[in-house]
Amino acid sequence: MSREAMLELAQRAAELLVEWNEQLPAMDAWDGEFREAPASVASEEPPENGQPALDVLERAVQKILPTTARLAHPRSFAFVPSSPTWPGVLADFLASGYNVNACTWLVASGPSEVELAVVDWFRRWLGYPEGAGGLFTSGGAAAALDALVAAREAAANPQRASVYMSDQTHSVVPRAARIIGIPGERIHFVRSDSEYRLDVSALAETVARDRAAGVHPLAVCANAGTASTGAVDPLPAIAEFCEAEGLWLHVDAAYGGFAVLTHQGKMLLRGIERADSIGLDAHKWFYQPYEAGCLLVKDVRTLEHAFGLHHDVLQDTVWGAGHPNFADRGLQLSRAFRALKVWMSVQTFGLAAFREAVSGTMDLAARAGRYIDARPTLELLAPVSLGIVCFRVNPDRAGFGETALEKLNRAVLARVFWDDRALVSSTTLVETFSLRLCILNHNTTWDDVRETLDAVERFGAEPRLDASG
Ligand SMILES: Cc1ncc(COP(=O)(O)O)c(C=O)c1O
Repeated sequence: MSREAMLELAQRAAELLVEWNEQLPAMDAWDGEFREAPASVASEEPPENGQPALDVLERAVQKILPTTARLAHPRSFAFVPSSPTWPGVLADFLASGYNVNACTWLVASGPSEVELAVVDWFRRWLGYPEGAGGLFTSGGAAAALDALVAAREAAANPQRASVYMSDQTHSVVPRAARIIGIPGERIHFVRSDSEYRLDVSALAETVARDRAAGVHPLAVCANAGTASTGAVDPLPAIAEFCEAEGLWLHVDAAYGGFAVLTHQGKMLLRGIERADSIGLDAHKWFYQPYEAGCLLVKDVRTLEHAFGLHHDVLQDTVWGAGHPNFADRGLQLSRAFRALKVWMSVQTFGLAAFREAVSGTMDLAARAGRYIDARPTLELLAPVSLGIVCFRVNPDRAGFGETALEKLNRAVLARVFWDDRALVSSTTLVETFSLRLCILNHNTTWDDVRETLDAVERFGAEPRLDASG
């Protein structure tokens, strides 16, 4: 491409993105199609001859990219949303343009310095000691997988291994256990308490039962912010138990980890620094574009022991101590330069902006909880934790059975989905169907939250949604 064509294309892409961000709040937080429409664009044969690059760009922007959940929308409350900073977006563009492969020191010493520095920021925020370290990963799922590999490689006896986690743990964690070869019957979902936190006495009973049966308990995977309710497991008690039993403790802080930036979050996540490994996602509560996961381990040598295998073709990349090869710390050899987006975002806005964004969204969630409590037809179903609010429409507390309430709330959810600007999702709390807001976006205002709750209430009051009959 000519210089002019490259600049014109990049300029247009930037303009379109800035326009998109400006228009986002007025749009719906979701747009999608049933199978036929996207397929008609995507299933075309690849053209033999090229087309004007600006036309291709416009087509992508018109036909493909908007047809999504708009996760950065201020009313995107479903699952775990994401609202990236502009410097973070541009960092990904730059890292792609420079075509960085953050695999080894030889290939990427500058990027490796930045990854070391950013991982070290995270280490200090989490209260981890010197000697702890890690790497950027695609996300929390990859972090859990790498952590369990490290746990297995560090275990005195990895045969007949078992792992333990609460029944609220995200499915990516048992999947990681499955990938490392632990069969389903040795992946234990320990019951959680009334606030959806792992019950430590039930954990102790399960571990004791396994030991008596000749199974070798390997690891406990605790939560610092479950996806369903934001619950934080009792980390100090779990750490105590794991230390006494010689078990690896992994904490899945993919969602909640960056709450440690705030005073309240630090108190809630107390004990996390005693874990052997921690997964946390900067593409969630640290405002980065996908993908920006991170795994930290208390002793970085455990990762290098697990993943640092030799290959002759890479022999020139061994530069000795102080020059880590990130490829020796995890699954990937070729790796994107993910740390740059965090570095550029923090340099641009300063840490205080991130702290305020995290605590501001926690405050909104707490306020939503109080608002729901005060509404006669809404019911809070779990304590508000971090930025997550679980609730339902319950017009007549005594009168509706659980089946009718589930039917009503499913209908309300569908109504919000198709007819309201907000995107809300649901979860199941043991057996109770729950609507759920995850408030994370630094652009979300109280009006965004309140109007969404009001819409839920209004839809719940529509006669045709009345589930009592
Ligand atoms: C608590 C929790 N753990 C793990 C994950 C998976 O993380 P990722 O999608 O970044 O792999 C999520 C995703 O939402 C999550 O909320």
